[in-house]
Amino acid sequence: EITPEFIQGLPKAELHLHIEGTLEPELKLELAKRNKVDIGQSTIEEVRQAYQYDDLASFLAVYYPAMQVLQQEQDFYDLAFSYLRRAAENNVRHVEIFFDPQAHTSRDISFETVISGLHRAIVDARALNVDAELIMCFLRDFSKESARKTLLEAMPYKDWIIGVGLDSDEHNNPPLKFARQYEDAAAAGMHLTAHCDIDQKDSIDHIRQALEIMGVERIDHGTNIVEDPDLVDFVVNHQVGLTSCPLSNSFVRPQMKGEEILQLLSKGAKICINSDDPAYFGGYINDNYYALADQFNLTQQQVIQLARNSFEASWISDEKKALYL
Ligand code: ADE
Ligand code: ZN
Repeated sequence: EITPEFIQGLPKAELHLHIEGTLEPELKLELAKRNKVDIGQSTIEEVRQAYQYDDLASFLAVYYPAMQVLQQEQDFYDLAFSYLRRAAENNVRHVEIFFDPQAHTSRDISFETVISGLHRAIVDARALNVDAELIMCFLRDFSKESARKTLLEAMPYKDWIIGVGLDSDEHNNPPLKFARQYEDAAAAGMHLTAHCDIDQKDSIDHIRQALEIMGVERIDHGTNIVEDPDLVDFVVNHQVGLTSCPLSNSFVRPQMKGEEILQLLSKGAKICINSDDPAYFGGYINDNYYALADQFNLTQQQVIQLARNSFEASWISDEKKALYL
C-alpha cells in the first residue's frame, strides 16, 4: 500500500538525530586520513565489519571511539553538511539535531570548535531548504559536575542552541541526576527533552521523573510508556512529543516496537518517526518510515499523521508550523 514515493513526497521534520551518528564509513575514513588518526580499519568493508551490536552498551562501545576522527572545525562542518544534504534528499524541511559536546571536550576538542562547525553547516544548509537547530545533550553516564561545566561553556552560544537533551547509557543514570542543569537550561530559554529508553527496568520511573518533575516537552524513545495508562493520558493531554526510531529499535532492542507506536498514535499522542543514528542503524528517515509502514501495514492516514506530528512536536514557531499543518 505505502510506497517509498509516497513517503518521499511528505514534508517531514526530524527531531531525534544524533549528528555523530551520521558519520558514514566513507567520511570516517576520509577524516581518519585527513587527521592522521589510526582507527584500525582502512576499507569501508572493514569499518562495516566492526558494526556489531545488539544492545545500547555494545552500540555505544563502537560509537564513541569512532569520534576520534573528528578533530577540526571543518570536520564538524563536513559531518553536519553531509547529513543536511541527506535530510534535504529525504524531504526533511526541519531538523533538531542532537550533539554530544562532552564526547569531544573529553578528548580536548574545544566546545567552540564543535559548535562553530555544526552551526556553519546549518547556515549553509538554508540554501537546501532545510531549516535546522541544535539540541545539546548531556552524557548521562558523566557526572552532574561535568554537565554543569558543559552548560557554562554553552552559554556564549545559547542563541545557537534550541534545547537540551540527555543521552548515552541510561542504566543507573536517571533524569533527576540532572534536575539542576535542566532548571538552569530552562531559565536560559532552552527547551527540554530526554532519552528515556525502552526495556530498561527503571524506564517508567525515568519517564515519570522527566515529565512530572523536570517538565520535559518531549521524551526520546519512551515507547514503553504504554505500560502506564496514566502516563499515556498525561502525554496526550499535555501534547508531549514522543520521538521513535524504528530501525534503531530493531538493532539495539528486541524489535521495532511497531505495536507500541501504533497504539500511541491511535490514542492521539504526538509520536513521530526518526532515524537516531542513521549511519549505524541502516537507514535515514524515509527508510525508517518505510520499514515501519511495510512491516505493520500502515495506512496512508497513519503515515500522514506521523509526519504531521513531527511538526507539531517540533520547537519551530507557530507561524512556521502553520506552513506544514
Ligand atoms: N547516543 C547516540 N544514540 C543514542 C541512543 N539511541 N540512545 C542513547 N544514547 C545515544
Ligand atoms: Zn537517540
